[in-house]
Amino acid sequence: MNNCWNEKINYRLLKYKNQNLYRKRIEINNGNSRWIYIKNKKYLNFSSNNYLGLSCDTEIMQSWKDYIKLGGVGSGGSGHVIGYHPLHKKLEVWLSNWLNFPRALLFSSGFSANQAIIHVLGTIFKYIFVDRLSHASIIEASLNSNISCKSFRHNDINHLLKLLMQNKYKNNSLIFTEGIFSMDGDQSPIGNLIKIAKKFYSYLIVDDAHGFGILGDEGKGTSYIKNMLPDLLVITFGKSVGMHGAAILCQENIAEYFLQFSKNLIYSTAMIPAQAGAILTALKKIRYSSTLRDHLFRNIKRFQCSAKKLKFYKHSNTAIQPIIIGDSLLTIQFAKKLRKQGLWVHPILPPSIPKGQARIRITITAMHQENDIDNLIEALFYAERFI
Ligand SMILES: Cc1ncc(COP(=O)(O)O)c(C=O)c1O
Repeated sequence: MNNCWNEKINYRLLKYKNQNLYRKRIEINNGNSRWIYIKNKKYLNFSSNNYLGLSCDTEIMQSWKDYIKLGGVGSGGSGHVIGYHPLHKKLEVWLSNWLNFPRALLFSSGFSANQAIIHVLGTIFKYIFVDRLSHASIIEASLNSNISCKSFRHNDINHLLKLLMQNKYKNNSLIFTEGIFSMDGDQSPIGNLIKIAKKFYSYLIVDDAHGFGILGDEGKGTSYIKNMLPDLLVITFGKSVGMHGAAILCQENIAEYFLQFSKNLIYSTAMIPAQAGAILTALKKIRYSSTLRDHLFRNIKRFQCSAKKLKFYKHSNTAIQPIIIGDSLLTIQFAKKLRKQGLWVHPILPPSIPKGQARIRITITAMHQENDIDNLIEALFYAERFI
């Protein structure tokens, strides 16, 4: 007899296939490199979040190996039991000094950090206001926690203000946004958000996964372009830092509150100590040399200059450059055309983005050379003729 739940699963899978939303993974060697090989074909990679190319940096890889000798290949448990290594402490202290927050706490991933923030602070605050284009980790946690969630239109300060006007929100609300939005590459108005948060005695959280490492003074991130710090900052190490993991930066008592009440911290194995050591090696490279950042921004400028003549290009000043086609099937076909020309790009389809806004999410990196950008532009103009 066929199970009812089995039928439900198969029905939903089929529905996804019919809507061209079905996701498949492809085995890729070195997805973090400039060139990748898939089924013996060579592609120029425009899909990696390894914005500075640090994933393949020999000094960082060597430092990871060296730290393994010190701390092994695993932490041995939760940081609350046995897993808090001096390398974790060193990285946390270094981060808090560099980014000018009293405390830093490491998390195993950005997804986990965002979930933890909303669940833990949801025990204090009653409401959360989230930018509509925020990452799935933020939206999902907001909808699945006890806290009452409202979304404001993307980067729309007036809409947020209008929502906050009701008195009950004063003193009782979290505001959560991103520094640089992951699918559009645009920047949030952090200065205005800080003013609004102050006015309503709210608590502002900025997830700067995509700005950290490349923007602002010393690559400290979007908040440091004009030194406007939120109450709590999320940074991740899986993008420009080239590795994996995350940290939150906050006040002393908030950090202590997380250590007492965050299940993501208490009941999860701590980051591999050697990884923490290698992250610090990468962060020092970011802090003390702007060479990679400068190269990245030269590439971005070169791309922007020609891309603005493309029909589907949406302006962005960051490594994330969206080509918004709208229709999912057309977007898949567009990506296929580019792949045929040896360029690896990824179609982004709903529900990762709003309906009708399917796109190619191009990522420019410091690994690319001028020629790569020119080839990409040429291929985009070619592919656009078929849409
Ligand atoms: C804005 C944002 N926050 C959080 C995450 C999740 O970070 P991680 O990959 O470390 O889980 C991502 C990942 O793409 C992201 O774009």
